[in-house]
Amino acid sequence: MDLLKITNLGKKDLKDLLKKTDILKEKKIRGKPHKELESKSVGLLFEEPSTRTRISFSVGCSDLGMHSLYLKEEDLQIRRGENIKDTGNVISRYLDSLVIRALDHQKIKKLAQHSTIPIINAMSKKYHPCQAIADLYTIKEKKDQLRDLKFAWIGDANNVCNSNILGNSMMDIETRIASPKGYEPEKKVIKEAQKYQGDIKIFNDPYKAVEDSDIIYTDVWISTGDDRDPSEIKQDFKEFKVTQELVNQAKPDAIVMHCMPIKGNEITREVVESTQSVIYDQAENRLHTEKALLLKLLKQN
Ligand code: CP
Repeated sequence: MDLLKITNLGKKDLKDLLKKTDILKEKKIRGKPHKELESKSVGLLFEEPSTRTRISFSVGCSDLGMHSLYLKEEDLQIRRGENIKDTGNVISRYLDSLVIRALDHQKIKKLAQHSTIPIINAMSKKYHPCQAIADLYTIKEKKDQLRDLKFAWIGDANNVCNSNILGNSMMDIETRIASPKGYEPEKKVIKEAQKYQGDIKIFNDPYKAVEDSDIIYTDVWISTGDDRDPSEIKQDFKEFKVTQELVNQAKPDAIVMHCMPIKGNEITREVVESTQSVIYDQAENRLHTEKALLLKLLKQN
């Protein structure tokens, strides 16, 4: 089984994975060994920079007793034209799984088609499923539940937003998206979320979207690989910055999330460093949820 998008997991798989994360996090905190995947090898192929995903997968593999290899696309023969089919076939003979970050989602899909090992999407231009799993875990950890919560996404309806829309719908969280006109989420993603009876509301006014919300989430306005004019984007998004004034429109105990890195246009430092911010816990949870994911995908192999 691959993880190209969060819906590759069933609802039950996702719930089990979040439960397993509790156990793994507890073990990590208490310093209890949990080398449950000893002798397995994972490739970490990054075509784009990464702090959280790269480090959390590397440390997670080590915690589970696995061997991880950091691979840069420019060091592989893919860069010199070796095709995806041959690459997929060959890496499947050496590795037990491949974690890949590539902007081109079709490339990750094609690699998965030609590999016999689980392929994990570590972020493409379309989806960021590992982020959304950690986000759901963080919400559950902070709110003690997932059902009946209101999640307000403020800003660009990007890959992280797509994955949150799908993940929230799987877990019965209402998703409100506030984006400038023309930057709303893709209809295809909304349609898929609706298969899970996902309650999705689209706004062009961030103040309306956050009203009575439990979670406020934002991300950079200009994502990796975005070729839109930066000054035009900044102008279009200027009303979509997460400020304390905006946060104050949500429930008093609302939490503020950001997948990082923070660029500063999209959120004030005051909010990042406020007591309502769970941003650093959210980043930490990447480690714990990715370990649960590796166990889910590799223990059955
Ligand atoms: N959130 C996230 O994926 O961070 P990195 O780009 O640093 O991996």
